Amino acid sequence: MSIIYNPVQSTLTMHTKNSSYQMKIDEHKVLVHTYYGSRIADDDMSYLYMTFDRANAGQFEEVFPDRTISLDTMAQEYTGCGVGDYRISSLLVQNGDGSYGADFRYVKHEIVEGKYAIPGMPHSHDEEKEAQTLIVTIQDKVTKLMVELYYGVFEKQDVITRCAKIINGSNEKITLLKASSMALDFPYGDFDLIHFHGKHALERQMERCHLSHAIETIGSRRNTSSHQHNPFILLANPETNEDFGDCYGFMLVYSGGFKAEVEKDQFDSTRVVMGIQDEAFAWELNSQAAFYTPEVLLSYSNQGLAKLSHNYHDMIRRHITRGKFKNARRPILINNWEATYFDFTDEKIVEIAKEAASLGVEMLVLDDGWFGIRNDDTSGLGDWFVNTDKIRCGLPSLVKQVNDLGLKFGIWIEPEMINEDSDLYRQHPDWALTMPGRVPNRSRHQLVLDMSRDEIVDCIYERISAILRDNPIEYVKWDMNRSICDLWSCSLPYHRQGELAHRYVLGVYKLMDRLTSEFPDVLFEGCSGGGGRFDAGILYYSPQIWCSDDTDPIQRLHIQYGTSFGYPVSSMGAHVSASPNHQTGRTTLLNTRGVVAMSGTFGYELDPSKLSEDEKEQIRIQIETFKLFYDLIQNGKYYRLSNILSKSYEAWQFVSQDKSEALLNVVVTNTQPNPTLMNIKLKGLEKDAIYEVVYKTMPDVKRTFDIMNSPAMKERYMTKKEQMTGSALMHGGYTLPWVVGDYPAIQIHFKKI
Ligand code: DGJ
Repeated sequence: MSIIYNPVQSTLTMHTKNSSYQMKIDEHKVLVHTYYGSRIADDDMSYLYMTFDRANAGQFEEVFPDRTISLDTMAQEYTGCGVGDYRISSLLVQNGDGSYGADFRYVKHEIVEGKYAIPGMPHSHDEEKEAQTLIVTIQDKVTKLMVELYYGVFEKQDVITRCAKIINGSNEKITLLKASSMALDFPYGDFDLIHFHGKHALERQMERCHLSHAIETIGSRRNTSSHQHNPFILLANPETNEDFGDCYGFMLVYSGGFKAEVEKDQFDSTRVVMGIQDEAFAWELNSQAAFYTPEVLLSYSNQGLAKLSHNYHDMIRRHITRGKFKNARRPILINNWEATYFDFTDEKIVEIAKEAASLGVEMLVLDDGWFGIRNDDTSGLGDWFVNTDKIRCGLPSLVKQVNDLGLKFGIWIEPEMINEDSDLYRQHPDWALTMPGRVPNRSRHQLVLDMSRDEIVDCIYERISAILRDNPIEYVKWDMNRSICDLWSCSLPYHRQGELAHRYVLGVYKLMDRLTSEFPDVLFEGCSGGGGRFDAGILYYSPQIWCSDDTDPIQRLHIQYGTSFGYPVSSMGAHVSASPNHQTGRTTLLNTRGVVAMSGTFGYELDPSKLSEDEKEQIRIQIETFKLFYDLIQNGKYYRLSNILSKSYEAWQFVSQDKSEALLNVVVTNTQPNPTLMNIKLKGLEKDAIYEVVYKTMPDVKRTFDIMNSPAMKERYMTKKEQMTGSALMHGGYTLPWVVGDYPAIQIHFKKI
């Protein structure tokens, strides 16, 4: 049993393999939070808390005039508003009488087998029937507003999920002005906040800062999860590092605007609140109507950040992603975007496919520009019919030609968008989000379809599904290239316009659900101007997301490093592109580009007809290498071995789940003359097992060894069979030779003998 109700203590305790989470129904029926941390027995953890007169902390009805108890100082599971807890609140509600008050007390709870679902929204699932659900109902006795707090316990993954169902139990309308998914109070502790900020082409840059007595807010008002902030934050003790210390993760399973707030209060308690962005949010609840918040995945590790990341990787791979491609090997693709941009014909695409087939690539993806009248980004979005000026042979013939070369065919779409210069817009100018009397903000020349309207979702569904039905298309890249503003819908009355941002997201999920259900054999990849909507909500529908429009391998080191804290390698779209790189102009070795892209879903994004014979041969080897390591990379444990901010190299490692093999990857980011050698301590190996180096790739080795002028080194790295125990590799480390050149990369494969 993962969830235990102890009626003597009035505690509800949830246990995962290594963590416990406890709440208690106190004598006044306030649902107090008592503990989240390392696994404990069934103790009543409320002994940790002292009540005493905290001047200036007011009393609620049941305790007045006892000045030692106050909502303002209590740790709570989910807060009300306007009733004397002055910290950030979980919810803000305007009642029928105009007041902004809610004060919750425990009503009942239920423990059920399996994992709860959230209608119309992505959520973790439990195909293996391992999870348990706790539902705790709290209610405001005056307005009868009710909140059902849902907790899903995934014992093996060390993950507890949360969401809230808010039900209007009164006879009057009420309006939700803030409806967070969760609150969590830490009465003690000193924390760093770790979050992942960014911008277009440089997403998810890890930032760690010490919490001060303030409210730190991480969020997006762009109505997508955004390039700028990711809906994933961590709290860690200041001494916590990759391998040591306490840390907590909070990941929102949602793709719209969000808000994560962390408040360190007057008594050094820390409160975390996470959920939908509340700015311009107002959701009207008629009597008896309900509102579901998105889900948050919480995880705790007492073994540092690596373990916390493993929990999330495992959780996403097993309980977020679904369908055929959850476990199946995904094809190695070539995408024509950086090869041609909008400038292509069917002949050019076939030429790319032919060259790619000879290299071992398995799928061709036709990117933006194949539909409507679209020669640049000013027109065509919405017209999901093939552009016969470019694809003169027609789509079925193009797909067949590519298939005949032995390649699968994939296609790009951007279903949520519309250009004013499109037939769809000319027919339905009112389908784009615009505010009355205002010229809407254009971004990349495009407007946003009002996905809250069923007729629009239906129309786009018909158009896209017709293409997928009429052609044997096996992959879809679902792009979304702007932030969303001008929120106003002609289908909603005045007092419901504050629902639009969330209704938009629900409409997108509806479309994703219909398309992925009707085409279960199609692999969907999420995308949003690169990685602008990289979140667990999207991963519920598509197991991979294009990580960034920046394909420069050195920048990608930072992007993939940050992404890896919450998301598995199997979710990160990564491609080898041309050198010099189109975004940064940097020149890098093909080997380096391959090593970096292999730590993702792997593919190519260049014109293979422009490659030399030598480069083509390198790519053939790269593809074979990736296939060899596929399982280890996609399903193994991922370890960050360096801190990107402080070293002259970046290293990371994969270890198979049974610890029988490991792959060490290194990219030297600052090549030095006469350098300090790189000694890298491996992780996660079996300490008494003997590992042999069975494969290694080093750049320009001849030059390196010539410069080194060390016959001993040459012999060791080039000819000698290297065998070491797991403990030697983990404690002594593996010392790499001096490598020279621009951004050289090294890959070493260790196998247990
Ligand atoms: C943004 C994507 O991230 C790119 O890969 C490409 O598909 C373009 N959009 C096409 O418009």
